[in-house]
Amino acid sequence: MKVTFAKSTPPRRGAYVVGVYAERKLTPAARALDRATRGVVMRALAASRFKGKARQTLQVLAPARSGLGAILLVGLGEAKKVDALVMQEAGGTAYAALSGNGIGSVAVAVDAPEGSKLTAADLAAELAFGFKLRSYRFDKYRTKEKPEDKPALKTAAILCAEPDKARARYGRLERIADGVFFTRDLVSEPPNVLYPETLAEAARTLTKLGVKVEVLGVKEMRKLGMNALLGVGQGSAKESKLVVMEWKGAGAATKTKGKDGKETGPVAFVGKGVTFDTGGISLKPGAGMEEMKWDMGGAGAVIGAMKALAGRKSKAHAVGVVGLVENMPDGNAQRPGDIVKSMSGQTIEIQNTDAEGRLVLADALWYCKTRFKPKLMIDLATLTGAIVVALGHEMAGMYSNNDELASRIFEAGGKVGERVWRMPLGPAYDKMMDSDIADMKNISGRRDAGSTTAAQFLQRFVDKTPWAHLDIAGMAWAGKDMATVPKGGTGYGVRLLDRLVADFYESLSR
Ligand code: BES
Ligand code: MN
Ligand code: ZN
Repeated sequence: MKVTFAKSTPPRRGAYVVGVYAERKLTPAARALDRATRGVVMRALAASRFKGKARQTLQVLAPARSGLGAILLVGLGEAKKVDALVMQEAGGTAYAALSGNGIGSVAVAVDAPEGSKLTAADLAAELAFGFKLRSYRFDKYRTKEKPEDKPALKTAAILCAEPDKARARYGRLERIADGVFFTRDLVSEPPNVLYPETLAEAARTLTKLGVKVEVLGVKEMRKLGMNALLGVGQGSAKESKLVVMEWKGAGAATKTKGKDGKETGPVAFVGKGVTFDTGGISLKPGAGMEEMKWDMGGAGAVIGAMKALAGRKSKAHAVGVVGLVENMPDGNAQRPGDIVKSMSGQTIEIQNTDAEGRLVLADALWYCKTRFKPKLMIDLATLTGAIVVALGHEMAGMYSNNDELASRIFEAGGKVGERVWRMPLGPAYDKMMDSDIADMKNISGRRDAGSTTAAQFLQRFVDKTPWAHLDIAGMAWAGKDMATVPKGGTGYGVRLLDRLVADFYESLSR
């Protein structure tokens, strides 16, 4: 999808998209179009149930003399509620409404409603971002799709006042989209193609952007004592990997302690990268098991976020650590009953080999904490089915030992439409993970509070580091199309982490 920005001259061919506010209040562009077409817009409105609500669209036949291929009215909701997210979703829904109809180019008129905090240029860039995000497609394995069945829409011209400003702002958003698309690609790849080694190679491509990338194999991890992670991968023919990514933005504080003694270490992201989760010896049922190819969604989000930060040259110091394993049943696989010693020295009784993500994260978190002394750690993981039961596909579960960090993540998530909901931690839940024979066990052995007990397990590997755990099991994959996210791998987490860094961890003072 190629997006350009231009002055507000209505197009003479292709599709033309204009906005309508709630209660069918026309935007200036819609009014002008109505006048130029002698009332086509108003007549179409009168004949339909389109009200101008956010995410509503109405396609209108273009009069022959206009030369246009199609006219699309896109709802923007209440004018005073128009913000970045509304514009992104308008862009996404407009793309979806037009992509199937064979038109190659579209022009979208954007102006700022009265009293808007954002300028027309800002809103135009956000709409373009939504357009781009929705245009994602993973079709590399479809060899027989007819050209006429592929989306024809190739170029979008966003028309607004001050197109130069819009273009400049979009430049940054496009780099974020690169990160989101990278994550979606990784999550969508099949598990015979994407396994620890190939996922590590994909992460290595970030070197081009200036990210330092290190890949540890089994030998190195064994030396470090990462037996919790290694135990999960030992039944697989694919070698387990740990990828460490570091981005030092220009001007970012990179010392561990500032003059005032305050921590100024990097912000760190840690991802669960189980490239396929069969459950291991505690084998999962066969139905739906193919979904477990996206059990590396946390790692995918961390890699995509690093790509976004580096792509837009963020002035932050950020580290990404992803633990990559394949969880397979095999003669050499880990057994229920095994006891492993984690890198932290704590021992873990494996009671269920399907509770593997926490084992991977235990060592990845500990490694990250001891090596980088980060000022905060956020892990992302498709960790439990229980979080999907609790929150569905609307929000990720957030667990944190730090109120400030939790509220910042909550705020960033709300702004980008990648929402989180905070869940509780506490000593009573922690106790549920005590083992009779080792320092802890990897499942509580009960059905209740499944996501919380998983989070409690992780907390035993972060010490005092400000930490948040995002259980994204319900968010990494979409079963249906959404405004800016086509069904499939969502790229959830990339925009959230990028926004969190942009809003709180880029200036030197914080
Ligand atoms: N990867 C799964 C969690 C999952 C389930 C993600 C469904 C996405 C959709 C995880 O490794 C797992 O198997 N968790 C178990 C934990 C249980 C054994 C304590 C679960 O949630 O059932
Ligand atoms: Mn599992
Ligand atoms: Zn898993």
